[in-house]
Amino acid sequence: VKLVNFFFVETFRERLVSLGDGTSREVLLLDEVDSTSTELKRRIKQGAMPGTIAVAHRQTQGRGRLGRVWHSSPLGNLYLSILMETGAPTNETVPLLPLAAGIAAHEAATEVGAYCHLKWPNDVLVSGKKLAGILCEAVMMSKDRAQVIVGLGVNIPDAPFPPEIAHTAVSLNTVLKKEIDISFLAAGFVSSLESWNLRITKGDRAALIQEWRKRAEPFGRGVKVGDVTGKTVDLASDGRLIVLDDHGQEHLIAGGIVESVEFDPNP
Ligand code: BTN
Repeated sequence: VKLVNFFFVETFRERLVSLGDGTSREVLLLDEVDSTSTELKRRIKQGAMPGTIAVAHRQTQGRGRLGRVWHSSPLGNLYLSILMETGAPTNETVPLLPLAAGIAAHEAATEVGAYCHLKWPNDVLVSGKKLAGILCEAVMMSKDRAQVIVGLGVNIPDAPFPPEIAHTAVSLNTVLKKEIDISFLAAGFVSSLESWNLRITKGDRAALIQEWRKRAEPFGRGVKVGDVTGKTVDLASDGRLIVLDDHGQEHLIAGGIVESVEFDPNP
């Protein structure tokens, strides 16, 4: 199969710098990997620094939220994971990172011309179909220090999906009716995510919640999250989703971080 989209590290870096991100970071470009997020997990053990990015042209075991598989077409999509370090206290900052990642993905997609909305916590939808998904996994380095692996997958080529997701997924090139440079898209995501992470660290939680709301699909939609079925009401000030169930009871749903593991230097 012929790969449609190439990731260019130089374009990516130049774009990042032009967006004001002067960080020197390691960018690993892999032709094929099981999962860019699994790769970063391995790299943490080898001492990878916060800010390290893994991008792959192909993934053989892409992972989604809630233990799902992330369909990773061999034609090439954007598969990017970044190691983020949040500020203290981690119990307040870490849960906000998935929302920040959603905002960043939404912003990056909007900037290249897509009209999209966020679905809690961080799916990017175009007309109700999924354009991008995000997986956030926290690794506790010590009691009060966490690193979060943020993995972004964006459907890119204008090519058919497998039947299981054909009605629920959409691709960027299909939406835009043209091909885009995924290195640009990636830089937009990273730069926005870094700046929101900084704001979270400074305690600017209200601005983040407000920004997420602005980019979200309207509340009042029917949802099923875990064992709660009802309608979305709002985003709470701590980032949890408020759902009103069919019996008139309100629930606060957390769930942006799918997995939290202790760091084990000697596995
Ligand atoms: C979801 O919506 O369920 C989250 C999908 C996240 C997919 C990305 S692709 C890059 C990174 N590597 C993975 O294995 N998963 C994330």
